[in-house]
Amino acid sequence: MGLAKNWLLLSLLLVIWMPLGRGKVYPRDIYRRTPKFRRAWMGVESNTGPNFGGWLLRILNSDGNFACGGAYYAPLLVITSANCIYPYRNSLEGATVEGTAFSKCDDENVAEIDTIQFPERFIYRKLYMDVAVVRLKEPIKGRLTEFIRLCTVKVQPRMRMVVFGWGYDSLEVQKPSSDPRNSSVSVISLKECRKSFGKSLRLSSTSVCVRQPKNPRQCLYDGGGPMIYKRELCGVVSIGSQCQNTSYPGMFTNIKRVARFIRETEEGIKAGYIFRAPKVRQKTPAKVIRSPATSEINTTELKYEAKTTTIDPLEAMVCN
Ligand SMILES: *[C@@H]1O[C@H](CO)[C@@H](O)[C@H](O)[C@H]1NC(C)=O
Ligand SMILES: *[C@@H]1O[C@H](CO)[C@@H](O)[C@H](O)[C@H]1NC(C)=O
Ligand SMILES: *[C@@H]1O[C@H](CO)[C@@H](O)[C@H](O)[C@H]1NC(C)=O
Repeated sequence: MGLAKNWLLLSLLLVIWMPLGRGKVYPRDIYRRTPKFRRAWMGVESNTGPNFGGWLLRILNSDGNFACGGAYYAPLLVITSANCIYPYRNSLEGATVEGTAFSKCDDENVAEIDTIQFPERFIYRKLYMDVAVVRLKEPIKGRLTEFIRLCTVKVQPRMRMVVFGWGYDSLEVQKPSSDPRNSSVSVISLKECRKSFGKSLRLSSTSVCVRQPKNPRQCLYDGGGPMIYKRELCGVVSIGSQCQNTSYPGMFTNIKRVARFIRETEEGIKAGYIFRAPKVRQKTPAKVIRSPATSEINTTELKYEAKTTTIDPLEAMVCN
């Protein structure tokens, strides 16, 4: 009971002290019922440290290698491209999703994958409805981990979007980086897009084409990699293009056009009619257990620390 009281005090203190800094750290990890709005990403400038936001994720296959980019949407849900994740669908044992924003208070930012939901009308290697919802066994921990909102704007030609990736899909151009990179692209009309592909590609009503940067080194096209407009997820990398020749447009799935599938999947999971993967005998992963901090929090000390901290909330955050 004393612990609960202290928690409340701590949370209160943190809330009061947060606006002082330029960034945001959360007093605790995400749990299964964390409401999405509580952890909504508020833009690059709102987050702390050298990261693009705690919503940007890497999906790793069972060997621990990069599979796809992903965007954190809800405690147990990650959005990616169906074409990218489809080949892994039958070997999910040990496949994980990893956060890209870490703080000194985090021991782990990795969650195991439970199942993957594909739209009924998605066909492998086709553009239509190229989106998948990855369901996690547990939320991804981390004090910087956040959710991204789905697109609310109509994506139109000439809009400038920001894409994120590691460069795994452009090995010919340069080596992938361990940290994600960002780049800017502009949306082009379907008409213009069709012209550059000729008859070699059938566009879909759920696709968005973008003009890639002239410099192939700035081209980011990892499958499932997110494309954002302001603070919203408006696209994920689909198939059909390559960074080798950036005169070809990049193809993304238009998140606004597939939002219904995402929301229905979310509802179905909440209502319990989309099932979890059947239980297999669990290999308990060797978890790092933090030495439990003293449960009695010295509030005098805490107040003192809060008052003197005005510069970097990431440095000053209190781990407990
Ligand atoms: C990439 O991220 C950096 C750091 O957050 C930012 O300054 C830059 O403007 C971003 N570039 C684009 C194209 O968004
Ligand atoms: C890229 O593709 C365009 C269109 O097919 C072609 O004209 C151009 O020569 C290609 N560039 C390179 C570097 O391959
Ligand atoms: C709490 O910390 C302050 C400052 O370090 C110290 O003076 C005080 O004795 C501590 N109180 C307890 C109950 O440990």
